[in-house]
Amino acid sequence: MRWGETGDGDPVHLYTLANERGIEARISDYGGIVTSLMAPDRDGRLVDVVLGYDSLGEYVEDATYFGCLIGRYANRIALGHFTLDGVEHSVTVNNGRNHLHGGAKGFNKVLWEAKEQRGENSVGVRLTYLSPDGDEGYPGNLLAQVTYTLTEGNELILDYAASTDAVTIVNLTNHSYFNLAGHGSGDVLDHMLTLNADRFTPVDGELIPTGELRDVEGTPMDFRRPTAIGERIDHPQLVLVGGIDHNFALSRGSDGMAFAARVHEPLSGRTLEVSTTEPGIQIYTGNFLQEGKTGKGGRTYGPRGAICLETQHFPDSLNKMNFPSTVLWPGETYRQRTVYRFT
Ligand code: GLA
Repeated sequence: MRWGETGDGDPVHLYTLANERGIEARISDYGGIVTSLMAPDRDGRLVDVVLGYDSLGEYVEDATYFGCLIGRYANRIALGHFTLDGVEHSVTVNNGRNHLHGGAKGFNKVLWEAKEQRGENSVGVRLTYLSPDGDEGYPGNLLAQVTYTLTEGNELILDYAASTDAVTIVNLTNHSYFNLAGHGSGDVLDHMLTLNADRFTPVDGELIPTGELRDVEGTPMDFRRPTAIGERIDHPQLVLVGGIDHNFALSRGSDGMAFAARVHEPLSGRTLEVSTTEPGIQIYTGNFLQEGKTGKGGRTYGPRGAICLETQHFPDSLNKMNFPSTVLWPGETYRQRTVYRFT
């Protein structure tokens, strides 16, 4: 469906992916944004579980990253600076002194080329974008492809791929804000969170990892057993950044898919499970959302009104030699897969 147009007059579309069980995702070729995601509760009642806006114009103006794809590099790069193969690079500084989520015009603010896909038990849309050499300061022409697939098994699968013609860095993710009671239904403090993470990456006051990989044992970051988000949120470590806004290092046996997170909303019974090929997941409880922010259907959102589950490599990896590498060389293919499954 045609949704509107960009400032340059290019048409923007919305694609609807629906399965037999009532799950319905709407995805835009602008920013690869998941604008709505209908999911059933234990009695089959559907509500939209992601925060967002009604109009394209609001997404164009948006600074919260509702629902969008993040690239070329998710989360922060300290001082927007890094060295690659002996060459120094500076990328756009757009968050205090640091680089955040791909810069001023990241993958969330560009028009992707879309192609609908149909499998035996799934429907999907494949998005392609060529980010030119020098885009926001990143080296190399980067060809990125993200496919959203909705299956009859209630999975929304995100397959990411990228290739380059010069050595570069890449770290892609999706920035959906989930509230399993329904968007705009208050905070998520009673959502139960389980994380498959023995370690997390502590941050400084600018949300840059210190480089340490700290054991969660005995800290408020231990979510290895289901824990209400609100139980922990006032702990001093979380007060430093206004809530949870941390990258967790997943405990994985080998490469391939690993269970990352489970979020359960007790009243509705909705449960969302996340698994991924990535080494980390950024858990962000919408701490920077402004109180009374207007979203879809006139609903209002506020701090801790949602939880983001951003599967990724660790923030600022290129400046932390002990973190898994985010460097991509010509001839290599970057791949990541994340599955969001409603149970
Ligand atoms: C990520 C970051 C947060 C914040 C949001 C966007 O989740 O970790 O610090 O920048 O994006 O508001």
